[in-house]
Amino acid sequence: MCIQDMLILHICHRTGVRHRIVVEPPGRNAQMIIDMMNRNCYNSTFVYPLVIDDGEGCYIRDVDGNIYLDFTSNIGSSPLGYKHPDVIDVLNKYSSMGVHKIAGQDFYCKEHAELAEGLLSIVPKGFKAFLINSGAEAVENAIKIAYRKMGALPGVSCINAFHGRTLGALTFTFSKPVQKSNFPELPVKRIKFCTSDDDPEIDAIENLLKENRVAFIITEVIQGEGGYNIASRRFIKTLRSCADAYGIPLIIDEVQSGMGRTGRWWAYEHYDIEPDIMAVAKALYVGATLYRRELDPGKQGVLSSTWGGGNRIDLAIGSRIIDVIKRDNLLSNAERMGYMLLKALKDIRDDSNGKVVDVRGIGLMIGVEFTSKDVRDRFILHAFKKGLLLLPAGLKVIRVIPPLIIREEEVHEGVELMYNALREV
Ligand SMILES: Cc1ncc(COP(=O)(O)O)c(C=O)c1O
Repeated sequence: MCIQDMLILHICHRTGVRHRIVVEPPGRNAQMIIDMMNRNCYNSTFVYPLVIDDGEGCYIRDVDGNIYLDFTSNIGSSPLGYKHPDVIDVLNKYSSMGVHKIAGQDFYCKEHAELAEGLLSIVPKGFKAFLINSGAEAVENAIKIAYRKMGALPGVSCINAFHGRTLGALTFTFSKPVQKSNFPELPVKRIKFCTSDDDPEIDAIENLLKENRVAFIITEVIQGEGGYNIASRRFIKTLRSCADAYGIPLIIDEVQSGMGRTGRWWAYEHYDIEPDIMAVAKALYVGATLYRRELDPGKQGVLSSTWGGGNRIDLAIGSRIIDVIKRDNLLSNAERMGYMLLKALKDIRDDSNGKVVDVRGIGLMIGVEFTSKDVRDRFILHAFKKGLLLLPAGLKVIRVIPPLIIREEEVHEGVELMYNALREV
């Protein structure tokens, strides 16, 4: 980034004039990179032609100089936004280090020990940590820990769940058919993800457990990829009590909802329950499986991976993120800003002539549901062209998940951009 551009980002930060579209995206530089990608790479889940160059605060700059307000946090994985002084401090400290990545399950390092300790300070007492690379691997190891204790029995997961795309985790994912095509599955029983306390299906788990031996129950408490669906309180409490009654581990997947996104460290805290095993990643920068001590696989070699627990820069950033969330009260910021955003988005729904049919969320994990997939997709594209980054979830929902550092004026800026985008849909 040249000095002039750095200056613009700094000035933007102070004056409050933030997003800035100088060339309709994709500009020439972006198009060149996208063409190169299209020639050489699998087209996985790209939604619009954003080619990221740099960022600061809640803003991302593309390779043509456009600046966007980021309401995606890179799918929740940039909780402190960009160029955060604490993250830069960690990067500076490691910039001259020769051994920045090690075989972290074969050799020890301070960063692994410190991140495990940091994580265990924010989960219930009596847990242990296994650090790994991604969210899917955190789930993969969560289910392995459960199988190790319970044997190779079916696992129970929810319809519309998303737990990752590696083959084991993918069995328990059930959000979009395209993710499952032709891929073999482990034994599984599926239940409805109930969002209303009045749903009679809540009791299905009791009957299922009466009639079947199972290895675990796995669920999100707010479904992410599946459409930002918020579990009913009675549903989650019933899963917990049935798991207790039948001696089955309850795995809570906090990959998307954890690390302060909902205004608490973990979304399950809103339900007054505790999991037996949990999967964490995204905002932590690395993956982590956290589990009750009594579920420890014990014998060496049951779990491992070359890079797991060994990417020292990301481990150090993960630790710093936990420290900064504590130090800067970002849980309460997520709660306050989330409340403000939710209220403003509900106003948008009321003014949308029926294009927006629902707005729901906890803290800074908010879903906006449109009347159809087509309207939702066009809305996302218009928002992008105006300087606001959003991503889809489920069939016709957008996820609104800005960095936890977001400030009031940025909430207003994003809401105004959404009003502008809505007018064009
Ligand atoms: C709830 C949940 N679990 C697991 C995953 C998989 O994480 P990753 O993409 O890091 O493998 C995701 C990713 O979106 C997720 O939202």
